[in-house]
Amino acid sequence: MQLTVSEQKMLSGEHGIAAQQSMEILVALGKIYGADKMIPVTSVQVAGVSYKTIGDAGLEYLNDLVANGAKVRVPTFLNPAGIDVAQWKELGVPEHFAKKQIEILNAYAAMGIQNTCTCTPYLIGIKPKLGEHIAWSESSAVAYANSALGAKTNREGGPSALAAAICGVTPNYGFHLDKNRVSDFIVSVECELKDESDFGAMGYYVGAIVKNRNPAFDGIEKESTSTDKLKALGAAMAASGSVGLFFAEDITPEFNVKDGAEKIPFTEKELRETKEKINEEAEKENAKPQLVSIGCPHASIDEIRHVAEIITRKKISKLKCDLWICTARETKKKAEELGLARTIEAAGGKIVADTCMVVCPLEQMGFKVTACNSGKAAKYLPSLCKQKVVFGKMEELIC
Ligand code: F3S
Repeated sequence: MQLTVSEQKMLSGEHGIAAQQSMEILVALGKIYGADKMIPVTSVQVAGVSYKTIGDAGLEYLNDLVANGAKVRVPTFLNPAGIDVAQWKELGVPEHFAKKQIEILNAYAAMGIQNTCTCTPYLIGIKPKLGEHIAWSESSAVAYANSALGAKTNREGGPSALAAAICGVTPNYGFHLDKNRVSDFIVSVECELKDESDFGAMGYYVGAIVKNRNPAFDGIEKESTSTDKLKALGAAMAASGSVGLFFAEDITPEFNVKDGAEKIPFTEKELRETKEKINEEAEKENAKPQLVSIGCPHASIDEIRHVAEIITRKKISKLKCDLWICTARETKKKAEELGLARTIEAAGGKIVADTCMVVCPLEQMGFKVTACNSGKAAKYLPSLCKQKVVFGKMEELIC
C-alpha cells in the first residue's frame, strides 16, 4: 500500500499516539481489503455514540483516545446518542445511563467532533456531492449518501470512522471504487408505493433477500419518491440486510446494472405479507402501542409538518398514547420556529432530539409495545429494545 509522506509520519508516531493508532487501523483495513492507497475524505460521520450500544468498554476506548491527544482533521459529526440532552429526565431515562451518555458526548467533543447527534446529517446541510469521498458509519446514512447523493463511502464501523476522522483519510477500496458500484440484482416494482411505510416495508423485504448486494429498482415512479421515502428504503435494507448502495432507475444519480442480473418482483402480495409479518407478534397478543415513534431515520421538517397536519385534521386534542418524533436538534428548532412543535405538544406529543426510539434505553423506560412507520425501527425494536412492534402508516398510527 502506497502511503504519502504525511501518512507515513502518522504511522511512525510523529503526530502522536492517537494518530499513530488510527493510521494503524486504516492500514490494517486497507491490507485486508486490498487497497492501493489512502484517499482524503471531506467528512466523517461517527456511529457508536449511545451508551446502550458501546457501554463502558466504548467509553474507556474514547477516553484513552482523548488522553492520547486525539483530534479530528476533517469535519466530523455524531450519530444519535442514547438521550435527548435537554429532556432526558422528562422522558424517563435512568440517571446512571444519562450520566454515562454525557461522558461519551464530552469525549467526542474533546476530539473536536460536532455533537449533531443525528443519523440524517444530509437533512441539516451536511450533504456531500456526487463522487465525493466520505467516511460515514451510520448504515442508513451510508445507504442514502451512496445511493441518493452519489457520494462514496463504505459502511464504516465506529472505530474505523473515528480513525478516518483523526487521519483525514480512508483506505481506497469497496464503494470508493467505481467497479464496485454496480448491481447484479434487479427488483421489479409492480405495485404502488404510497408513503414512507410502503418504502420501508419494501426495504425490509428486499434487504433480507439481497444481504450485502447492491439492488437496483425498476418501476418506481419518480413522482412517487422523495428524500424521506428514499431514506426509509435505504435504512430498512441496511437493517434487514447490509445494503450500502442501491439504485433506482431515473431517480438515483447512478444506475449501473450488470448484464444477466438476477431479477425478482415486488408486488402487492410481498408488500402486504411483509407488513403482516412485522405485525405478527403484536397481533397475536392484540398488543396496543404505548408509544408511537416517528423519525427513523431522523425526521425531516416535512415529516414533522405531516404529523402536525394529521393532528390538526383529525382534531386530536389528546393523543391516545405517547408520541415521539425523533429528529436532529436543528430540525427541532425549525419545527419550533414554524409553530409545528406547538401543535404536536398541545396534543401531548414530543419532539425528541439527539436520540431515537432504538438507541435510547426504551426497554428501561416502561415501554413494551411501540408503533412505528419505519422498516428499520421495525427490525431493531424487538431485538435491541425488547418491544412488540405495531407497524403502520403515520396516518393510522397517530390518533
Ligand atoms: Fe436513526 Fe435510530 Fe433509526 S439512529 S436510522 S433513528 S435506529
